[in-house]
Amino acid sequence: MKELKGLILSGGKGTRLRPITHTSAKQLVPVANKPVLFYGIDAMASAGITDVGIVIAPETGDEIRAAVGTGEAHGVSVTYIEQDEPLGLAHAVLTAEPFLGREPFVMYLGDNLLRNGINALVEAFRTEEPDALILLTPVIDPENYGVAELDGDGVKRLTEKPEVPESDLALVGVYMFTAAIFDAARAIRPSWRGELEITDAIQHLIDGGLRVDSHIVHGWWKDTGQVQDMLEANRLILDDLGEKLEGDLVDSRVEGRVEIAAGARLERATVRGPAVIGAGSQITDAYIGPYTAIGENVTIARAEIEHSIVLSGSSVTDLEGRVEASLIGRNVTITRGPTLPRAYRFVVGDNAEISIL
Ligand code: TTP
Repeated sequence: MKELKGLILSGGKGTRLRPITHTSAKQLVPVANKPVLFYGIDAMASAGITDVGIVIAPETGDEIRAAVGTGEAHGVSVTYIEQDEPLGLAHAVLTAEPFLGREPFVMYLGDNLLRNGINALVEAFRTEEPDALILLTPVIDPENYGVAELDGDGVKRLTEKPEVPESDLALVGVYMFTAAIFDAARAIRPSWRGELEITDAIQHLIDGGLRVDSHIVHGWWKDTGQVQDMLEANRLILDDLGEKLEGDLVDSRVEGRVEIAAGARLERATVRGPAVIGAGSQITDAYIGPYTAIGENVTIARAEIEHSIVLSGSSVTDLEGRVEASLIGRNVTITRGPTLPRAYRFVVGDNAEISIL
């Protein structure tokens, strides 16, 4: 088989992750302090794929270019492909056709995370040489996913969010294609939501008598398109965390697996792992609980937080209650006001979500 290319989709609207996506690409939200997108790029490199195209949107493309650069730091060479409008995954494939040429390729959704990477899948594609290979995982709510009906390992039918699912096997956001996918993507029409669906393009391959194989994922898979999934991905990655204490600890206690970056400073703090704290952060008279990722240059003082992600430059201070299950964006300030009357005072952007008991 020819050398495989990689295609990572990092455009899209990210509506389900607003307000974070009003100002930033969802693929750059850090999970355990590493942008989601980097896990996908590293998975490509680990599978021996070095020629990687990244599909970007006009709004967030520059930010992604700035974060990933040439790809050299990840051991890959990146070509950026601008998709003018997010008209669907099959549309993104067509947009990337000049880059992909006639080579077979792996397509990876830039907001997806797979614990065990893609090596086994790429190996299966290389040795079996089907026309396409899709990745599946059993889920308890198949009606919320693209669902596959199998005949042995071969795929008979794909249905997007079926009312009565034929199986519990959902499509995972990694696909392997040959150049046959381009004609299929050109042959289909937009769906009810106005997108060229990759499931329709794959179904077109099957209907045309081409061979579409499947591979069941072992180990967890997460699509981080929504806040709860992002927090869950953070929890899963932190579960595999090592221990590394490089920052300054003054009268502080650290329990379990915790990573504290050089340049972070803890004073009279308790950290119960698994948790990560980024460089330049100041944790003072505070409690950081399990499954928390604190980014760079964050201040947590006289407050408690757990099972949360805090992005760089934010501060959480002087709170009475514990913050939990929260995704806090960049340069956010959460604090107690100094003056009476005792009241909640907010300056909050569009589509924010605040819950107070
Ligand atoms: P989705 O999460 O399905 O779509 P979205 O990013 O528009 O998000 P939402 O539904 O919340 O509005 O996309 C999966 C991945 O594919 C994600 O990394 C974005 C990327 N993508 C593209 O690059 N181009 C596209 O046309 C679409 C639809 C998605």
